[in-house]
Amino acid sequence: MRTLIRNGTVINAGGTLRADVLVEGEKISAITAPGVIETADAYIEADDKYVLPGGIDAHTHMEMPFGGTFSADTFFTGTRAAAWGGTTTIIDFAVQAKGTSLLSTLDKWHEKADGHCAVDYGFHMIVSDVNDQSLKEMESCIDAGVNSFKMFMAYPGVFYATDGEILRAMQKAAGTGATVMMHAENGIAIDELVAQAIAEGRTDPVEHGLTRPPELEGEATSRAIQLARVTGAPLYIVHLSASQALAAVAAARNDGQNVFAETCPQYLYLSIEDLAKPDFEGSKYVASPPLRPKEHQADLWRGLRTNDLSVVSTDHCPFCFKDQKELGRGDFSKIPNGIPGVEHRMDLLHQGVVAGEITLQRWVEVTSATPARMFGLYPRKGVIAPGADADIVVYDPAVRQTLGVATHHMAVDYSAYEGMSITGGVSTVLSRGSVVISDGEFHGHEGHGRFLSRELSQYLV
Ligand code: URP
Ligand code: ZN
Ligand code: ZN
Ligand code: ZN
Repeated sequence: MRTLIRNGTVINAGGTLRADVLVEGEKISAITAPGVIETADAYIEADDKYVLPGGIDAHTHMEMPFGGTFSADTFFTGTRAAAWGGTTTIIDFAVQAKGTSLLSTLDKWHEKADGHCAVDYGFHMIVSDVNDQSLKEMESCIDAGVNSFKMFMAYPGVFYATDGEILRAMQKAAGTGATVMMHAENGIAIDELVAQAIAEGRTDPVEHGLTRPPELEGEATSRAIQLARVTGAPLYIVHLSASQALAAVAAARNDGQNVFAETCPQYLYLSIEDLAKPDFEGSKYVASPPLRPKEHQADLWRGLRTNDLSVVSTDHCPFCFKDQKELGRGDFSKIPNGIPGVEHRMDLLHQGVVAGEITLQRWVEVTSATPARMFGLYPRKGVIAPGADADIVVYDPAVRQTLGVATHHMAVDYSAYEGMSITGGVSTVLSRGSVVISDGEFHGHEGHGRFLSRELSQYLV
């Protein structure tokens, strides 16, 4: 099957050109000047549209266990929603429960995801039990194509790792080329502030933000950076939300340290004012790190321009308002943490292009090319080039849409972006050569997505 995408503006991280893109089977086979190839089996007209490499969301949580419940998207509904929004690869997190092994955890996540995803997927591993066996099993995970390990400085008693445990895992990473991903918040201090708030009867969702001040993200980020420096391990800070944390990352990078960071659309567009919405509506915006005062947003956009923030992922972690977020009525600390967003990342970052915050090429770089390089998928993914997987988004920059629960495809009963007006939208999406979205319809199927055994990072070794 030969599909010709005609006369679009092809946007790669490295540049833009007017071209035709030929897809043969699952791969891109040629990029030519418009009109050079005259015949194909099928045609996609891309006049006045952008042709981008499919988005790569390197941070999602489908069916994730949290506080006795599970995030609401399955691997099928979540990857289908991703496709709707122009994301053709997700990297989700397998979650080691304390007392279990990394390899049994990996088996469990394969059982959840294999045969169910609508687009391609990979895994990171959350390490919540650092011991000799886990450290040894990190090597087997790497051999199985899972070479990035998330650790937590937050959530004492659940995922939390001590500095000593982090140090040991970083030593292992330094010797193997694995990537340590850090949830950098000082969970010990935060838990004290949370206990004080509850004891004083301050139980509303906004307290979630007030008890997790940005200084404690900055402090943890600095500490993670120092631990990485001592061990020689490279470091990737996940879901960076605060100016203080960004300053720590920028200083380390200026000093030549191999430190990278991602931010998420919610930190660029939403704020602690959303957490303060009345009638428990604020619970819809509870995630960790929390939404910050608006002043942080300009710094994050600047970080995206200067490359101190290299990746935008969603941290998609949907919990329904009804019955899930509501678990925390009367005690904000029991609200499941997470915000839905896998469907909207490409559109929301395109608003950054429209607003003049980032260029078109940078849009593609932070949402596709760099996550592909960072997580061992490049040049199979993350680029429109001959030989790459035909994961392609045809994007209409002129169309207008309004985000909301009535039109989104995520399996969650609210939208964090309800009523937000967006310029631009996905027109056609191909996943490995198959059209999965076109003409406002999903044409893919459960099980089309394949597991991606990833190479080591191109940046972090
Ligand atoms: O609140 C969040 N971010 N939930 C998902 C888990 C995590 O820490 O990434
Ligand atoms: Zn986290
Ligand atoms: Zn997360
Ligand atoms: Zn298929």
